[in-house]
Amino acid sequence: MKRSSKLDWFMSLRKKRSIQFLIGLGVLYLLMVVLEAPFVSKTVNQEDNDGSISFFFTDNVSTKPYVLDSEEELQEKKAPIRPLNVPQIVAKTPMNSRGFRKTREFNSLSTLSFDVSSLNGELNFGFGGIQKSAKEAFLVGKKVWEEIELGKVNLPLENRTTNESCPNSITLSGSVFRSKGSIIVLPCGMTLGSHVTLVGRPREAHPEQDPKISLLKSGQYLMVSQFMMELQGLKTVDGEDPPRILHFNPRLKGDWSGKPVIEQNTCYRMQWGSAHRCEGWRSRSDEETVDGQVKCEKWIRDDDDHSEESKSSWWLNRLIGRTKKVTFDWPYPFAEGKLFVLTLSAGLEGYHVNVDGRHITSFPYRTGFALEDATGLSLNGDIDVNAVFAASLPSTHPSFAPQRHLEMSNKWRAALLPDGPIDMFIGVLSAGNHFAERMAVRKSWMQHNLIKSSHVVARFFVALHARKEVNIELKKEAEFFGDIVIVPYMDNYDLVVLKTVAICEYGVRTASAKYIMKCDDDTFVRVDAVLNEAKKIGDGKSLYVGNINYYHKPLRYGKWSVTYEEWPEEDYPPYANGPGYILSSDIADFIATEFEKHKLKLFKMEDVSMGMWVEQFNATKPVEYVHSLKFCQFGCIEEYYTAHYQSPRQMLCMWNKLQLSGRPQCCNMR
Ligand SMILES: *[C@@H]1O[C@H](CO)[C@@H](O)[C@H](O)[C@H]1NC(C)=O
Ligand SMILES: *[C@@H]1O[C@H](CO)[C@@H](O)[C@H](O)[C@H]1NC(C)=O
Ligand SMILES: *[C@@H]1O[C@H](CO)[C@@H](O)[C@H](O)[C@H]1NC(C)=O
Ligand SMILES: *[C@@H]1O[C@H](CO)[C@@H](O)[C@H](O)[C@H]1NC(C)=O
Repeated sequence: MKRSSKLDWFMSLRKKRSIQFLIGLGVLYLLMVVLEAPFVSKTVNQEDNDGSISFFFTDNVSTKPYVLDSEEELQEKKAPIRPLNVPQIVAKTPMNSRGFRKTREFNSLSTLSFDVSSLNGELNFGFGGIQKSAKEAFLVGKKVWEEIELGKVNLPLENRTTNESCPNSITLSGSVFRSKGSIIVLPCGMTLGSHVTLVGRPREAHPEQDPKISLLKSGQYLMVSQFMMELQGLKTVDGEDPPRILHFNPRLKGDWSGKPVIEQNTCYRMQWGSAHRCEGWRSRSDEETVDGQVKCEKWIRDDDDHSEESKSSWWLNRLIGRTKKVTFDWPYPFAEGKLFVLTLSAGLEGYHVNVDGRHITSFPYRTGFALEDATGLSLNGDIDVNAVFAASLPSTHPSFAPQRHLEMSNKWRAALLPDGPIDMFIGVLSAGNHFAERMAVRKSWMQHNLIKSSHVVARFFVALHARKEVNIELKKEAEFFGDIVIVPYMDNYDLVVLKTVAICEYGVRTASAKYIMKCDDDTFVRVDAVLNEAKKIGDGKSLYVGNINYYHKPLRYGKWSVTYEEWPEEDYPPYANGPGYILSSDIADFIATEFEKHKLKLFKMEDVSMGMWVEQFNATKPVEYVHSLKFCQFGCIEEYYTAHYQSPRQMLCMWNKLQLSGRPQCCNMR
């Protein structure tokens, strides 16, 4: 009796909480609607091919997981016109008709000349394999670009979207699910509020034969029962295992800890992150929460709850009065042979897993993925699935609906290139389908007075995408906004370095800039602060400013190692991290010139390549290396010069803060 009244009290407390929570959720939702939810879905990982190349090595140049941005023209041009002493704009062949540009002819095609035909015999052009894939990428890119120019490619958006149907919900029975290889395909990925519900039953433990697991106990086989639920990016990468956007692995029995645990992780480009384990302890109160939920909930552990001590202290707490929050412990959510209902939902800050109606774990989104990339959910291990339901799925695939991200307003068009020299040129590495990212850059730091007044000019450098419709949209976008330089090769993860060369070439030859800056489309740039950093170094000096790494060594082991063939030296040269660095124009000119002479060594990591080129330049004229941590490599710090990994929403937030307070502040929501 007494007990049940206590339970009632407890339940009413719970109810109150959950009502508060629901109201909170409602408010959040309204807020989201107001803030334009489409952006939210992109926030999670706008960091793309370009942004991530500095962290992840690809070991196989011939796989082409991404389409490359092309940076050079492929046409059989006559010898490139050498720049005169003073950088000067050279009238180009009318590759695109930007007739309305009155000051200078504007080129939406990179003018870097890349003579494919002469490449065959060149041995010193690049390390291990890059030259070959560059050549291929340019050959394919040339064809693709010609088709687009001639209007041969006609894929009206309507046709495509109707083809790629995006169901709102999907229901699969257990047998159908199994017949499909235990994968439920979410054709258009997930979006904020999407959820997948799984009804299943963990199997009894079995002797584990996998040496990796049973090795823990020598002699006999370990009894193991575990299953893996994975959200995968089925469409993001060709030719390698799909990335695991969320790996959810309940280990009912047989974990090395000897206790039931739930392990969660992500695997990006076949590289696992650090695992997040829930072992039955509630996350510490000072730990980061996800949408206000703890990352791990408590459950009964056989080492605490069955002990007399904890029982007595529980009673003691009851008797003394409820000074402390009353907690009620539930058992581990999965049990062998017992049916469970699991719901995985996509929140604002991460994924939430509820089992049998109770919150169990939350996992913050990790950089590298967007919700839209989560195009499949797979299950394997010791589990029988009765049914799978996915609902509240997105109605369109955001990448296929660029018009939802692009705001075709004259307000966001770029100013024309001025006639005279400019202070600084900023080249922003971007990928074809990063419509939302580019739009956020346009609406944020590209609105800086220095850019509006054309003292500084910023342009996106994009290569051709594998999807033709993306290229068509890209061309339209480039024509409207006038801020995209297309580098006509097929985009490829390993060839990002070519865009960097194109930035140098364009910055010096076309924009006649004193300083050249390179950044990514998820880099937020404080234009004035960055320019000041460059100006601090006296006129006429050669400079290389950024977050500089000294004595970094290539990774020689593991899946993403750099081979000695690719990088023969022990150390990398000092190099500035890729998300943001500045060069003086003499160095940029040196790079473009060497490239055209086919003398420039190319390495797949663009920032390391830059370090190498600057070091080479330094042999003839001393270069001022300036290191500052304010060019943030990971995220944002107060007083930043540049911040990295910023989602479109964060970009706008940072810009607003900068405008309102005049101070550089971070926006740490995702
Ligand atoms: C690259 O991948 C291709 C096909 O996947 C394979 O044939 C080749 O051996 C791989 N090369 C290296 C260096 O791993
Ligand atoms: C695609 O759209 C065009 C016009 O919008 C139409 O003529 C054509 O039949 C459509 N194709 C398909 C396969 O629906
Ligand atoms: C699109 O639909 C048409 C006809 O409905 C079909 O022939 C074509 O294969 C579909 N394309 C894709 C990519 O599904
Ligand atoms: C640049 O050159 C100077 C003198 O030639 C040399 O002392 C310095 O170590 C070089 N710096 C780098 C980073 O190579």
